Amino acid sequence: MTPATYTLPELTGASDADLARAFDAILHSLSREAHDVETPEQLEHFRVRWFGDKAGLINKGAASFVRLAHDKRLAGNTFKQVKESAEQLYSELTSTIQRTDLLSKKLGATLADDRASASIDLTLPGTRRSIGVEHPLTRTMREMTAVFAALGYSVRVGPEVETDFYNFEALNFPPNHPARDTQDTLVVAGQEAKPLRERLLMRTHTSPVQIRSMVANAPPLRIVIPGKVHRNDESDATHSPIFHQVEGLCVDTDITFSDLKGTLDYAMKAFFGSSVKTRFFPSYFPFTEPSADVQISCPFCGGKGCRKCKHSGWIELLGCGMVNPAVFAAVDARRIENGLEPAYDTKKISGFAFGMGVERIAMMKYGVGDIGQFYSGDLRFLNQF
Ligand code: DAH
Repeated sequence: MTPATYTLPELTGASDADLARAFDAILHSLSREAHDVETPEQLEHFRVRWFGDKAGLINKGAASFVRLAHDKRLAGNTFKQVKESAEQLYSELTSTIQRTDLLSKKLGATLADDRASASIDLTLPGTRRSIGVEHPLTRTMREMTAVFAALGYSVRVGPEVETDFYNFEALNFPPNHPARDTQDTLVVAGQEAKPLRERLLMRTHTSPVQIRSMVANAPPLRIVIPGKVHRNDESDATHSPIFHQVEGLCVDTDITFSDLKGTLDYAMKAFFGSSVKTRFFPSYFPFTEPSADVQISCPFCGGKGCRKCKHSGWIELLGCGMVNPAVFAAVDARRIENGLEPAYDTKKISGFAFGMGVERIAMMKYGVGDIGQFYSGDLRFLNQF
């Protein structure tokens, strides 16, 4: 684009105000014209037009104003300022133009070089990028979740940094309850001023999402909860302080222990194959009553006994039980605090819950002997999946 050209303003009077207005107009024209300058050639043209010794608009025009002015000293001083501002603007413009010119020359040269040396050989094979696959833990967690999703369960997730209330208290682990010792964890520092139930910690299980979901939604509820959990556990071949769980919760009218057994038996068959059997043993969790541990017949040896099932024919996989009425009571109390209607009256509803460790299942399924391999990022390990 060629720069538009501006002429100098006519001096309309010889007063100080007239003079100031005229000088302003000069600077204004100069900067508008400068705005359109794009190439070194245009810059040179611009320089001669405004800053040329004899014919330059600054010198010629502005100096003639001074001649007309009443107060020549004042006019002279103002003229000096105008000239300085004009020169400043010109030097900024010069460096901008030089920079862009250099860049476009460089770019032009590179393109020309490439074309000249024909460095692109279209007959060479392309660069192959290896395509990643799901991590075995992600896959196991997704497959477990999918089994329940197919049964009509919705997938829910919750925060890993939890309050003591959701992680323990509402799940019927009162303060100082010995069951808390089985789930020691990292707590956020400096919270002594808060009541215990509001203090933050890294969640030790996915069960707090049961509470969050029931506080937010009235029954019926069928949810499956995949997620990461944290415990103060030493790392060894089968333990890691960070691991994953898949949790489930079903609440409705007339839910019984048979529903729990039927659901888990179906889910284990869907996941490990239709020939696996399940069996239930009494256990203890504060948030379920009664509680059970579930074993499946070894999917590798069909129950005859092998290395994977430590020659017992059975593998323990998950915990479960009927939701403890104390949990429903804690949920309703929180719903009332939140301005909601209580909705978990144990005369009308009941429910079951279950939880399982993803690493444990993935280790068994893929025959992994050391849990640390899942987190090692070692491609020799990961490439096998
Ligand atoms: N939250 C338990 C744990 O981390 C696992 C569990 C057991 C979850 C029984 C449940 C359940 O929902 O009913 O050890």
